[in-house]
Amino acid sequence: MKVTGIINMIKNRFARESVYNKADYWNAKAKELEGDAVSLWPNNNLNRLYEKEHMRFYDEFLNNITNLKAADLGCGTGNVTRIIAKYGANVTGFDFSEETIKIAKKRSEGISNIFFVVESVFNFYYPDEYDIINCRTCLTVACKDANELTVVLKNISSSLKSGGKCIIIEPIHKGFLHRVLNIDLEEFVSLMEQAGLEIKTIRQMHFVPVRLILSYFNIPMFITEPIYHIGQWIMHTLGWKWGDYKAIYAEKK
Ligand SMILES: C[S@@+](CC[C@H](N)C(=O)[O-])C[C@H]1O[C@@H](n2cnc3c(N)ncnc32)[C@H](O)[C@@H]1O
Repeated sequence: MKVTGIINMIKNRFARESVYNKADYWNAKAKELEGDAVSLWPNNNLNRLYEKEHMRFYDEFLNNITNLKAADLGCGTGNVTRIIAKYGANVTGFDFSEETIKIAKKRSEGISNIFFVVESVFNFYYPDEYDIINCRTCLTVACKDANELTVVLKNISSSLKSGGKCIIIEPIHKGFLHRVLNIDLEEFVSLMEQAGLEIKTIRQMHFVPVRLILSYFNIPMFITEPIYHIGQWIMHTLGWKWGDYKAIYAEKK
């Protein structure tokens, strides 16, 4: 990452509410960056480790889903969309960034049970259509407050069939580290419950201090990996609840 990249990133953080929830920002990233950095962090080695951690969560909750109907909201370049397709569901990825969807389609060529649509998460409303809805790192950049989040969560809940699975993996924080949405985990979860989603599991992911040190620079794997594991050890063994992302599994009531 060049110095100008870091300066832009700091500027973006200060203007977060008028940047991250606009398709232009994600279209530009899709044109400028490579690999998973298009949708995730500049350090692709850290992205790879995060992907493994997320896979363990998806492994737990996405079994026996062959031929079921799934949606991946704010799918970006389609990493999770492809994971869901691999488990056998017929999955559609939705994202409002045309450039990102172009990359998602290219990376998914030859997979028959995967589809992509350019659509905002605010227009996602398909009553009783889906067995599974996933959303990774979209709601906290798309929604600017609890009212907007409520609208989207209610539409997600309405779009699920009874007993349908909802997986949300998001950096949910109140305060300095928040993305666009500035609410804490307790409020987020309570809005999910009010929308008709019954929370089954919540897990902390990615120890915050390590994420801050490693995410913005392309640090080689032999440095990224041990520091990442030390952070995970501190979070799990010493019980520090300083996860950046929270992984939530819920079912429609
Ligand atoms: C951090 S990326 C995550 C991408 C993908 N879910 C992943 O985990 O690899 C956030 C994505 O959310 C999308 N996004 C943001 N606001 C959105 C909205 N209102 N509707 C649809 N997509 C949105 C962006 O275009 C971007 O691709």
